[in-house]
Amino acid sequence: MARHLITSALPYINGIKHLGNMVGSMLPADVYSRYLRQRGHDVLYICATDEHGTPAELAAKAAGLSVAEFCAQAHDAQKAVYDGFELSFDYFGRSSSAQNVEITQHFARRLQANGFIEERAIRQVFSPADDRFLPDRYVEGTCPHCAYDKARGDQCENCTRVLDPTDLIAPRSAISGSTELEVRETKHLFLLQSKLQDEVEAWVTKHEEAWPHLASSIARKWLTEGLHDRAITRDLDWGVPVPADTWPELAAEGKVFYVWFDAPVEYIAATKEWSDADPENRDWKSWWYDVQDVRYTEFMAKDNVPFHTVMFPATELGVREPWKMVDCVKAFNWLTYYGGKFSTSQQRGVFTDAALELLPADYWRYFLIANAPESDDSSFTWEHFAATVNKDLADTLGNFVNRVLSFSRKRFGDEVPVGSAAGEAEAKLGEEIARLLGEYEEQLETLQFRKAAQALRALWSAGNSYLEEKAPWLEIKTDPEGAALTLRTAMNLIHLYAVVSEPLIPASARAMRTAFALADATAAWVSREQAASLDAVPAGTPFTVPPVLFAKITEEDLDSYRERFGADG
Ligand code: MF3
Ligand code: ZN
Repeated sequence: MARHLITSALPYINGIKHLGNMVGSMLPADVYSRYLRQRGHDVLYICATDEHGTPAELAAKAAGLSVAEFCAQAHDAQKAVYDGFELSFDYFGRSSSAQNVEITQHFARRLQANGFIEERAIRQVFSPADDRFLPDRYVEGTCPHCAYDKARGDQCENCTRVLDPTDLIAPRSAISGSTELEVRETKHLFLLQSKLQDEVEAWVTKHEEAWPHLASSIARKWLTEGLHDRAITRDLDWGVPVPADTWPELAAEGKVFYVWFDAPVEYIAATKEWSDADPENRDWKSWWYDVQDVRYTEFMAKDNVPFHTVMFPATELGVREPWKMVDCVKAFNWLTYYGGKFSTSQQRGVFTDAALELLPADYWRYFLIANAPESDDSSFTWEHFAATVNKDLADTLGNFVNRVLSFSRKRFGDEVPVGSAAGEAEAKLGEEIARLLGEYEEQLETLQFRKAAQALRALWSAGNSYLEEKAPWLEIKTDPEGAALTLRTAMNLIHLYAVVSEPLIPASARAMRTAFALADATAAWVSREQAASLDAVPAGTPFTVPPVLFAKITEEDLDSYRERFGADG
């Protein structure tokens, strides 16, 4: 048994996330967490809302609420959707928590004491029309690198480069739209990342081999460009305050830390939130501080990789305390909507709340994992979604389950029938199942989610082939004992599917598992040998026939989805 710490990139508080956000961080992290828990490992899966920074302030303004109120409501709204998706967080925290203020300030003081923070006067965009400084997203304009004309002051969405508001060409205020912007001088704290370049590089070199390619290639690109000193404070009302004991002047001016400085610290702080909720039984430090036996895996979309592989590691190294650093970084490309961008600002694509209004979580979970944008971007289309649901979930899995259980009940009653002893066909099936299970395990362990879904589907298909080959509906006429064996074997497959499908489709897995009145109804993983023997559900076990697991998506459904969400790319 190993200890696994798992985090998914913290979703911004500024709105309900779309399917692209879901597949790019939280869902695969959940699949991995569930798998490891089933295998008996000690798993801590942590996530939180990322609540500071200009996106939160802008969204609160648009909603006509105070930022604190907006964040409280938006946190609950996101949490409700994630519950609906059955994301099995051990804790879903908030980066505005007291715990995060405490640990972020501690990190900053340590960096200062170790000579990695410096106060510098900088020139910042000031808007007389808005009577304020305009940090980060408060400024929009044209990207100096790729000429994208809706680049934000903090990062270009198009080429993913990190920007400074003063880099933008033809800048304008995101609040008032004013283009009469000035540049004024003000003091800020700078993190001297350039001083940490060598250490970060050495750390990346030591660890990148364990990271899937996408993450290590982005980290390398960043290291090659060189680590620059970066301002880690902002002139905002909302954020982690600069501590007055260390920087009285800046604190008096009301400066707060930059959102990207406090957000990764929230991984740690959310664990403390979890621990503070039940201090007798939980110990956050045993996951984060001076630990050797924890394996830490992070999940994120590719635009987040620089922060997790280079910048936050620089912070952690500069603190000069033994905080746990990431072992494996799993990154994702983009999920597109008909080849174009999902867009929160333009409400283009499918949002997670709307998705759950249409269909149960398992439909989405399966489709998204089977089409995870791993080696490349992948595209969501309603046509592809419907075809996948109908073929894999409704035909291959759902139909198998229903057909086997209903037919057996009709012919042999409410208990798993005995029938003849297993023969050659069953031995061959068992071997095939063991092989596919091994493949599935390997894909999950190496975080290859698309391939894991393929292996799972292959397990379901193997059941179908067996059933077609044995054809118990014909067998019953000439060899009822043989038909009973076939059905008992097929029911054992259903139970196996219930166990191994759990990481991807937990609700359907539960429905399959609870069809059998077994004394041990847990979803504990099965070994390949156990799987091959196909005898976890003995003859005589009472069972029920669950309602149809997956409804097919009809042409009419498709038309209505396309109409409602737009399907023009
Ligand atoms: N909120 C960021 C985003 O959506 C991710 C923050 S991840 C963390 O891109 F490391 F900062 F926590
Ligand atoms: Zn750009």
